[in-house]
Amino acid sequence: MSSQPSGPRRRLTIHDLRKMKGTGEKIAMVTAYDAAIARLVDGGGADAILVGDSLGMVVQGHESTLPVTLEHMIYHATCVRRGMARSQGRAHFTVDMPFGSYQASADDAVKNAMRLAAEGGAEAVKLEGGADYAEVIRRIVRAGVPVMGHIALTPQSVHRMGGYLVQGKDAEKAQRLLRDAKALEEAGCFALVLECIPSELARVITGQLSIPTIGIGAGPHCDGQVLVVNDLLGLDSAFKPKFVKRYAELGGSVAGALEAYVREVHDGAFPAEEHVFHSASLRLLSVVEDEERGEIDPQVVGVPV
Ligand code: KIV
Repeated sequence: MSSQPSGPRRRLTIHDLRKMKGTGEKIAMVTAYDAAIARLVDGGGADAILVGDSLGMVVQGHESTLPVTLEHMIYHATCVRRGMARSQGRAHFTVDMPFGSYQASADDAVKNAMRLAAEGGAEAVKLEGGADYAEVIRRIVRAGVPVMGHIALTPQSVHRMGGYLVQGKDAEKAQRLLRDAKALEEAGCFALVLECIPSELARVITGQLSIPTIGIGAGPHCDGQVLVVNDLLGLDSAFKPKFVKRYAELGGSVAGALEAYVREVHDGAFPAEEHVFHSASLRLLSVVEDEERGEIDPQVVGVPV
């Protein structure tokens, strides 16, 4: 009989994720923002968890990811980390660098990446941008923090892009994205997110890199896929972009459950007998009578016999 301890499974490292490209095993990455969902995502077998700055939109309710701060990212990273610690999963753990935390200077970028690792427990950080960020990435990697790149539709540049639009649709823009991808690999990224590009371009970029590409709205030829957990669970029934597949319709289920709860509270059906505590050895005292006799503290409504 085996005497192996039944501790948590070994978590995937950046080296495992890179090897998966070599073996053709697809990488399944999902976002998470809190402990409960992180535990489910990790337990569900995801290879990688991302605390995305998409939390600005799906958790905080903003119109964009721009208001998200480094403190927010650290807070959510620690929540997710605790959820992962309570599961038996193997997911690698990456945290987004939010808007303003790496653009102004390489020194800021290194310090902030180190805070995400030290305080948020990130095993890697992700940042948005192409060849212009090669030096910043080199510096962060040199400081010991692995970096995942993110090109094409980069939500932190929504105003420059003029909206959340598919990128790289003409030959010149596609060439530029290919150059960006190669520059990021050369700078030391261990993986690269490709967001919202034609599938044909994702195939070319994936074929020319030795690091894995992880697509969102980039078709089936990437080495892996990432989705925002709220989208794949269908939490917002009104949000259904073309690249999202909903694996559940939780928005409808949650709304139905809440309506049923409110109805049952209103009509007295909840709580039912099975939800109620009883104690045979508890004698209820009449607060008014005993209070009048000055025998009990008016706050006390029941005492064990
Ligand atoms: O912020 C995020 O969730 C992301 C993924 C969609 C890649 O960047």
